[in-house]
Amino acid sequence: MVTIEIQKKVSLKPYNTFDLDVSAEQLVIVKSYEELKSALLYARKEGLTPLFIGGGSNILLCNNLSQLVIINQITGYEIDQQDEHSVALKTYSGHSWHETVMYCIDQNWGGIENLSLIPGSMGAAPMQNIGAYGIELKDVFLRLEAVNLETFEIEVFNKEECHFGYRESVFKRELKGKYFIYSVTLTLKHGRHAINTSYGAIEEELKQNGINSREATIKEVSDAVIRIRQSKLPDPKVLGNSGSFFKNPVIPRKHFNKLQERFKDIKGYNVPNGIKVPAGWLIESRGWKGKRVGNTGSHAKQALVLVNYGNARGEEVKKLAIDIIEDIRRTFDIQLEPEVNIIS
Ligand code: EPU
Repeated sequence: MVTIEIQKKVSLKPYNTFDLDVSAEQLVIVKSYEELKSALLYARKEGLTPLFIGGGSNILLCNNLSQLVIINQITGYEIDQQDEHSVALKTYSGHSWHETVMYCIDQNWGGIENLSLIPGSMGAAPMQNIGAYGIELKDVFLRLEAVNLETFEIEVFNKEECHFGYRESVFKRELKGKYFIYSVTLTLKHGRHAINTSYGAIEEELKQNGINSREATIKEVSDAVIRIRQSKLPDPKVLGNSGSFFKNPVIPRKHFNKLQERFKDIKGYNVPNGIKVPAGWLIESRGWKGKRVGNTGSHAKQALVLVNYGNARGEEVKKLAIDIIEDIRRTFDIQLEPEVNIIS
């Protein structure tokens, strides 16, 4: 068993993109499977529940934590297999998602260019099936390895076994708290890329830069996505946030038709199980966009993002989220669900 350093009473401010200053009673940074195993054994011996943090970009920390916080810094990647059309890239879960995207673009491996600049780590990507601009993690996912928190053994999950849905996977539901995602393998394409520029503003952004979307390279698509994201989403280094705070709700068509009678400009997109309504529209239409409440508020350029203006407490952000949820429920009879993991 390798030795690990358990730190006591550590501020988690550097470890969460919301920039919340809560402390962990005990914290350990792990850089390998062996160190992780030692940390898990320590937690078991001390009767502590481990709390894993990767990029810290999808959590709202409300209180000081008595758990053992395990910071995942197991990084790196390797080619698993490759042929003339594709490459399977195995990445370790503490590696930065965006760095991986940039590496793939440098290698001219296509498939994740639309997912540029998403904060967080590789391990978080399958946890909530990250997505943006018409692509989701599941579209390039091959398999993952996860450590069973009972046995500490590594088990392999294929795509089917992960039960991916919109910002959902088996690890957020049936297997919640039972596994630590250790590695993620993606399938990427060489040569002729199947570029997807149909979503939102990508084509417009390319056009403005004199690029015909049918001839765009993956690098050009990635650059366009980065510019679009930078224009709407606050940089967590400047303004603490966790990206979209809520999921976009899906409601029955009948309900949507009724709402359309009252709210003429409501937006909605057909999905297999109903109509997906942009939560950003609902929140903006109720006047929350750009509104500051104490040290927190809904972002001025994207209502779906809640921000920390500095010195906010997690409870304050949570209270704002509850007030928004209640207002949307009363006005539209729609229940918003947080996308961010709220740790009370
Ligand atoms: N909208 C508004 N007001 C706003 C924001 C959005 O009215 O303040 C409406 C507009 O009608 C717009 C529509 O919402 O046309 C969609 O907006 P946008 O393209 O910005 O995307 P989104 O649905 O708000 C989702 C993801 C983002 C992802 C973008 C782009 C969720 C919860 N969020 O946001 O993901 O980057 O699409 O694909 O699905 C994240 O998960 O953290 C995240 C940022």
